[in-house]
Amino acid sequence: MRAALAAAIRAMALLAVAAMLIGSTEAAKKYLFKTCAQSSFCRRGRAYADAAEAAGADWHPPYAVDPASVQLRQGVLSGTVVKTAVDADGAAVGVKLPFQLVFLESGAVRFLIEEDRPKSAPKRYDEAVRWAISGDLGATAAVEDVTTAADTAAGVRRLRFGPGWTAVVELATVRVTFERDGAAQVVLNERGLLAVEHWRPRGPGPAFGGEDTTDMWEESFGGKQDSKPNGPEAVAVDVTFPGYGHVYGIPEHADRFALRSTRGGEGNHDEPYRLYNVDIFEYEVDSPMAMYGAIPFMQAQRAGSAVGVFWANAAETWIDIVHGADGTRTHWLSEAGLVDVFVMLGPDATSLYQQYGALTGYAELPPLYSLGYHQCRWNYQNERDVLEVDAGFDRHEIPYDVIWLDIDYTDSRKYFTWEQSAFPTPERMMAALDERRRKLVAIIDPHIKKEAGYGVYEDMTKAGLAVATADGGEYNGWCWPGESAWIDTLAPAAVEYWKRLFRPGAFAGRAHNLAIWNDMNEPSVFDGPEGSAPRDARHYGGWEHRAVHNLYGMTFHNATVQALNAREPRQRPFVLTRAFFAGSQRVGPMWTGDNQATWDYLRVATPMLLSSSVAGYGFVGADVGGFFGNPEHELWARWYQAGAFYPFFRGHAHIESKRREPWLAGEPYTGIIRDAIRLRYQLLPSLYTAFHRASFDGSPILRPLFMLAPANDAALAIDDQFFFGETGLLVKPVVDPGVTETDVYVPDDEVYYGYPDRTVYRGVGNHRVPAGLDTIPMLARGGHIFTRRDRYRRSTALMAHDPLTLVVSVDAAGNAGGALYMDDGETHGHTKGAYLHRFFMFSSQDNILRSRSVRPSTAASRAFDKTIDTVRVERVIVVGFDLGRLKAGQTTVETFQDKKSWSSHISVTPAADGRASMIVVRDPKVLITADWSIEF
Ligand SMILES: *[C@@H]1O[C@H](CO)[C@@H](O)[C@H](O)[C@H]1NC(C)=O
Repeated sequence: MRAALAAAIRAMALLAVAAMLIGSTEAAKKYLFKTCAQSSFCRRGRAYADAAEAAGADWHPPYAVDPASVQLRQGVLSGTVVKTAVDADGAAVGVKLPFQLVFLESGAVRFLIEEDRPKSAPKRYDEAVRWAISGDLGATAAVEDVTTAADTAAGVRRLRFGPGWTAVVELATVRVTFERDGAAQVVLNERGLLAVEHWRPRGPGPAFGGEDTTDMWEESFGGKQDSKPNGPEAVAVDVTFPGYGHVYGIPEHADRFALRSTRGGEGNHDEPYRLYNVDIFEYEVDSPMAMYGAIPFMQAQRAGSAVGVFWANAAETWIDIVHGADGTRTHWLSEAGLVDVFVMLGPDATSLYQQYGALTGYAELPPLYSLGYHQCRWNYQNERDVLEVDAGFDRHEIPYDVIWLDIDYTDSRKYFTWEQSAFPTPERMMAALDERRRKLVAIIDPHIKKEAGYGVYEDMTKAGLAVATADGGEYNGWCWPGESAWIDTLAPAAVEYWKRLFRPGAFAGRAHNLAIWNDMNEPSVFDGPEGSAPRDARHYGGWEHRAVHNLYGMTFHNATVQALNAREPRQRPFVLTRAFFAGSQRVGPMWTGDNQATWDYLRVATPMLLSSSVAGYGFVGADVGGFFGNPEHELWARWYQAGAFYPFFRGHAHIESKRREPWLAGEPYTGIIRDAIRLRYQLLPSLYTAFHRASFDGSPILRPLFMLAPANDAALAIDDQFFFGETGLLVKPVVDPGVTETDVYVPDDEVYYGYPDRTVYRGVGNHRVPAGLDTIPMLARGGHIFTRRDRYRRSTALMAHDPLTLVVSVDAAGNAGGALYMDDGETHGHTKGAYLHRFFMFSSQDNILRSRSVRPSTAASRAFDKTIDTVRVERVIVVGFDLGRLKAGQTTVETFQDKKSWSSHISVTPAADGRASMIVVRDPKVLITADWSIEF
């Protein structure tokens, strides 16, 4: 009786939690999440920083390198940091902390500090790099010891690596200064905040060296107890960027792109930026609170220089930032794991992204369809609903590629099942979508309903593949299906099992057009601490959840990708994730979670996407229209105009939102939305080219202004504009109501042309541009050539043989250049050479536009060319050309291809009324697969 009552009460409490999660429209419940002061290691860490600040020159932290231990061998400087502490009995204890400074081939330098623990003590988690890093961690031998006699006398080691780069290690203070050409760029432990909470036997006694022991051995928050069996094991270090006024990255936060100071003051935060993957329901904007994903990579930028650090730690992390007149000081604190910092010296943003990519990997080229438009809602009700929405796009002549199903397509939220009455024949539904080459995305989450007879649960339990509790039982918590267990995708056997669940015939029949969406993988646990799994839960290998928390979601995401690879080895997989970590860019795209249908969330989307873009994660998007609530019509239309440039472009809405298919907006809004989506499809060849570039050098798709205008200090904080891929298009989405004009900031001396109206804008600073409801403020930077496909088609695949238009915007000197990458868009053939890659160059020297292949010609490449040998360039638009260079009355241009030549007609519009000239070459009859030139 009593047990039944308890169960009923528990169920009611859980329902209340669930109702709150589903129904509320209030802002995020701050009290559901820890502040720094409520997280004992963060509280200790900040107190330590305050003590250092107060002590000033009298700060003498108990860490020093034992000079006798230091040696340089094959690109690695190693030795022992000794932490001198006084134990409970007042006896001095020297804790040995072996360190390494590893000079990597990529130019990055790794600073790693481990801990020599007694054999009987639990091991510190040391596998974060195994998941995050795909690059080579071996040292390069090209390190030169340039330590002078004076250095030696002063306890300094000086090592030269890279092009004029030096690392200076001060042994007594464990301070490492990274210099370029003699000037300090990054300093580790400048303020002496290095801290390693060393293992000690459990006991009440006083602290080591006066440490505050409150909550060291257990702590609780929100009524949830954390048993902390390993005791305190936090790590911390400070990182100073001398002379750098701005830092960026460390997504995910709903805040500005240029990160704020976090120690209070006007316009600053009081709390550090937090990295702890949580289902932050209805998050606030302008906040340093933790969100769904965590990438502990930070870029520092000043005019003419970029550097960065990567903190390879997957435990809860807090980062304090203080901007000063002489640079930016940061303080990194993690609850477990190692001090493992990678320093990258740029010297420019593009090189920095390459260095970071050389460590954590580059995104693979996604399937082309995934760059089209995605239509989602919670939920499309049944097969008829899906097919009616599908047909609606065609009826309204709006292109789209993918329709999505949220959790309610399943039977009782048991993944890998279908709600039979609503989706009796999913394979047939998918075959109907496939007729227009469209795809279906089904959601699959990591919580598995705990129900007798549900095969997935039973298999998982039997094989012990679920996340465990602190004492080794199966961990159960509450999520969408009710009581659930979580698949532990850190376990290789769990990944193998996961793959079996997706095999053809096992899920969605044998459909070939299946893609997947992984949600709730922070993991979200409705009744868990901070809405997630307990820190003392256990994963494969015996590791505590605490240490792997921020990377769990990535392992789940990756397991799903491996499963799709196994199901359809020929196809590129597409799996969207909500939780992420450094390295997730290798797996698939993410979106910024559950935003709201208000202008604030439209506004914050741009800086959020820029923040992840510079942290190696370029395939990102925000829910267009806003997930919660109902956008007013103007916001609805404006969001599509912004979304057309999001690398991942999806409309999505909550179950309680009104239906939101684009045609429901009514005119003029539907027309504006249609134009925005068609613009996206028009730019796909250029977007795909940008994704190709990202796949080998990590260049973001959305590029902050400093990438093209690195010397302009005033542009460093601008985060409501961006450059779109390689196109040179400078876009400023409108994020306020009632706008008819706006200022677009031109960041450099180049000439810019209104796109598409050709109004000339020249000169660094703000320029007033039209921005009425049907207009996206957009300027084409001189010097760029990009490609479009202008015909409306129902999906990306149906565009494969459409002709191309080249848009040439000449720079102030009359030149322009650009690239085009193409392949079949779906298979891995491009990795074997089946692709096309061309450069276009327009030269003012001879007035010639040239197309040249920059791809080795192989059997595979020639075979690919055959599949597109009917694709021609149907139009060339040249903007800003000096018409004085044409002959008087000239109406044709000469075209050369394959040793033949012919003339093509041009129409010429002279410069007038502040607009640049335009020449349109109509149907020059040149092929995209051929080398050709057009002489003006
Ligand atoms: C995903 O799994 C594959 C196969 O096990 C592995 O090679 C790859 O490194 C993993 N990627 C990530 C980001 O974990």
